[in-house]
Amino acid sequence: MTKTYKLKILAGDGIGPEIVAEARKIIDWLNRKTDLKIGTSEGLIGGCSIDAHGEPLTNETLKECKASDAVLLGAVGGPKWDNKTAYDIRPEAGLLKIRKSLELFANLRPAKVYDALIDSSPLKPEIVRGLDIVIVRELTGGLYFGSPRGIEDLENGEKRGVNTCIYTTSEIERVTKVAFELAKKRGNKVTSCDKANVMECGKLWHHTVDTLHEKEYSDVELNHLHADNCAMQLVRNPHQFDVIVTDNLFGDILSDEAAMLTGSLGMIPSASLGAEGTTYLYEPIHGSAPDIAGKGIANPLATILSLALCLRYSFNRDDLGQKLEDAVSAVLDDGLRTGDIMAKGCKQVGTNEMGNAVIAKLETA
Ligand code: IPM
Ligand code: MG
Repeated sequence: MTKTYKLKILAGDGIGPEIVAEARKIIDWLNRKTDLKIGTSEGLIGGCSIDAHGEPLTNETLKECKASDAVLLGAVGGPKWDNKTAYDIRPEAGLLKIRKSLELFANLRPAKVYDALIDSSPLKPEIVRGLDIVIVRELTGGLYFGSPRGIEDLENGEKRGVNTCIYTTSEIERVTKVAFELAKKRGNKVTSCDKANVMECGKLWHHTVDTLHEKEYSDVELNHLHADNCAMQLVRNPHQFDVIVTDNLFGDILSDEAAMLTGSLGMIPSASLGAEGTTYLYEPIHGSAPDIAGKGIANPLATILSLALCLRYSFNRDDLGQKLEDAVSAVLDDGLRTGDIMAKGCKQVGTNEMGNAVIAKLETA
């Protein structure tokens, strides 16, 4: 009997439910038209979960996620929950909790420039044409999770904010392995990014990457850059990169920068991976866009492309992932655009119409 993959869908807040609805249509299509079988169930994360349960991700929902083969997430957050000052009851805390609890230590964030969208990039076409890079961000360690942390009262009446950056050798090794393995299937080049010139964590990062490279991956080209230099090089000459591997905080910053090279945050998917055989998480990198929520105009393509990554990494179906990615490219080539990527001479469509157009391409592929 063929396996039915279990996918937990956490639509979240803002435009989350609308964009996830388009991914769901694709899942229905896959179930109807291919030999892949996906069973879905829903859960709450972020602000909607705070409203329903007083916390951004309940242990019960987390358990259901762990019992699934993969999780597809929409987006979390919104102004309604912004004034919550305790970090653990903000919508974002739900995201950090699921990353940490599922041990999703490697976050893949591709930045790919589609020919059809070249004019959306703020950089000159000759700098970004054909760009295809992936940032592998460490996702469960570093400054985001280290302790001590907090805001303390000092005796002199001042306050002091504290965060701690911590990395162990094995934490660095496991994410770097993901980067090397990925590079082998792509351009065979890894750039490791740290601040070894000022931080002990960076020094250990650099050394650990070097040691792993020598031992297991000497056939892959490896370069090291300081994070600030990497930020500059991404704008100056992004084509020098294939796979960039870096820590949690630098990866957060550099992946936003890389995303913007493509001109369209609304197009970029991500995969958060952990140990082999565990549950992985897929989500668009854009936020919940509360200003346009409920209007039916949000771009569903990053979520659809996140589903394509899920097909590749969790359901072992590179063929169907490729087919879905090709369908998205074909729709863009036809000149269909949501508002965020609208350009002269193109046809503006809503969320629903965009999803339908992708399905029409899948039908005729
Ligand atoms: C991201 C986001 C998150 C992060 C926030 C929403 C907690 O910026 O996924 O890049 O900082 O990791
Ligand atoms: Mg970010």
